[in-house]
Amino acid sequence: MRLGLIGGTGKEGRGLAVRWALAGHEVSIGSRERARGLEKAAELSAEQGIAIRGGDNAEAIDGAQVVILCVPYGAHRATLEGLVEGLGGKVMVDITVPLAPPKVDRVRVPEGTSAAQEAQGLLGAGVKVVAALHHVSSAHLSDPRHAIDCDVLVCGDDEAARELVIGLIGDLGLRGLDAGVLCNAVALEALTPVLIHMNKRYKSKGTGIRITGL
Ligand SMILES: NC(=O)c1ccc[n+]([C@@H]2O[C@H](COP(=O)([O-])OP(=O)(O)OC[C@H]3O[C@@H](n4cnc5c(N)ncnc54)[C@H](OP(=O)(O)O)[C@@H]3O)[C@@H](O)[C@H]2O)c1
Repeated sequence: MRLGLIGGTGKEGRGLAVRWALAGHEVSIGSRERARGLEKAAELSAEQGIAIRGGDNAEAIDGAQVVILCVPYGAHRATLEGLVEGLGGKVMVDITVPLAPPKVDRVRVPEGTSAAQEAQGLLGAGVKVVAALHHVSSAHLSDPRHAIDCDVLVCGDDEAARELVIGLIGDLGLRGLDAGVLCNAVALEALTPVLIHMNKRYKSKGTGIRITGL
């Protein structure tokens, strides 16, 4: 499948890009700066012996069947506003946690909504927004051979899009679980600051979650 990562040069995006490329997907990472996208793609490709493409964010999503949004919440709205046209008709995975630095260990979601619902509202019904991957730390993604002990909850209003993303999560070596409609994303986004607190409290580099009883 062709995957495009907006902000794929960052901590989370590059780890996802490498794992999906190793699983056989055609991956392109995007940046605000075309040169940075190209450079990071060449670096990751050489390191891992794979072929990741790079460019600016618009190039990265061009032709992609699934797009993954990997930018900080502070850049969420502006980034999407610049790419509305290119995202038309696609499935977009929003991994954004609406953190409020410097107090990143406190829950702070947008009032009455979530980052993923904000994205859906901005992009319109032509884009299938799916929220996922909020609890997978980049600390675990950096080594593609490292097995990650974490479940991934997946929300979205389109069931087929949720299933598609659950499949892609399986390709990362993780268990994706259907967590219902997009408004449930508020629970996913709100949990990450709790995990960040626990990282500090228990001196972990990346606490995760496991769902039991299934
Ligand atoms: N890090 C984690 O462990 C983790 C875990 C789960 C979810 N997340 C979520 O994943 C998203 C990305 O996290 P990250 O840690 O990868 O972030 P990051 O490394 O700080 O940033 C990711 C990329 O976003 C772009 N970016 C940064 N500031 C920007 C701005 N002001 N405007 C537009 N683009 C900007 C940059 O790409 P260019 O400079 O190349 O444009 C950067 O490489 C966040 O929403 C975060 O909440 C992160």
